[in-house]
Amino acid sequence: MHGMINKSIEDLVTINFGADKWEAIKAKAGIKVEAFVSNESYPDEMTYGLVGAATEVLGLSVSQVLFAFGEFWVLHTANKGYGDLLKSAGRTMPEFLDYLPLFHTRVALIFPNLKPPRFECSDRHPDRITMHYFSPRPGLSAVVSGMLSGVAKLYETPAEITQTQFKDKGADHDEFLVCWGDSIKK
Ligand code: HEM
Repeated sequence: MHGMINKSIEDLVTINFGADKWEAIKAKAGIKVEAFVSNESYPDEMTYGLVGAATEVLGLSVSQVLFAFGEFWVLHTANKGYGDLLKSAGRTMPEFLDYLPLFHTRVALIFPNLKPPRFECSDRHPDRITMHYFSPRPGLSAVVSGMLSGVAKLYETPAEITQTQFKDKGADHDEFLVCWGDSIKK
């Protein structure tokens, strides 16, 4: 994966848990790279290795680490580094979600050799939408939940994100229901 992803995991750990924990995670994952270069591609195994080591060093589950990373990616890494790109994709959260299927096409103009995920929307309503996520990379659905949650926070729109289909339980792909407004009022 792109160096920016690994660098973002480093920032997440360093800011929230300290530099010592990051060094412990890198050592446990057997990673000798001193600093990740944003525009360089690294083997996916390195990213999975970092996540696995983070669960052990921080005492968190895989989904907790992936969800935290997804939120951090949107609210910290993408928002600080690519805020204009991010916000130009929609004036509101529903607009952004509608645009998400096209979003990485624009990201690909900045990042060479991108192997982006694919998103599709269905069942659009004024207060909910279904998001379909496709990727050849396994096990990353909790990242998507975290990213969708980050997008909701970015737009200051209270939302509920529920995964409704699971690829790792045999479904064709992962599916998420995103609800806001009247659909979450009790
Ligand atoms: C400015 C904002 C964003 C930028 C610059 C960006 C960029 C990237 C980059 C560089 C990768 C690595 C792909 C690779 O190395 O081949 C990636 C992966 C990914 N992105 Fe984005 N992204 C952004 C926003 C989002 C948002 C808002 C979502 C979903 C809500 C999202 C979902 C994902 C997922 C799930 C992956 C993991 C790869 C996979 O599933 O195969 N991204 N993105």
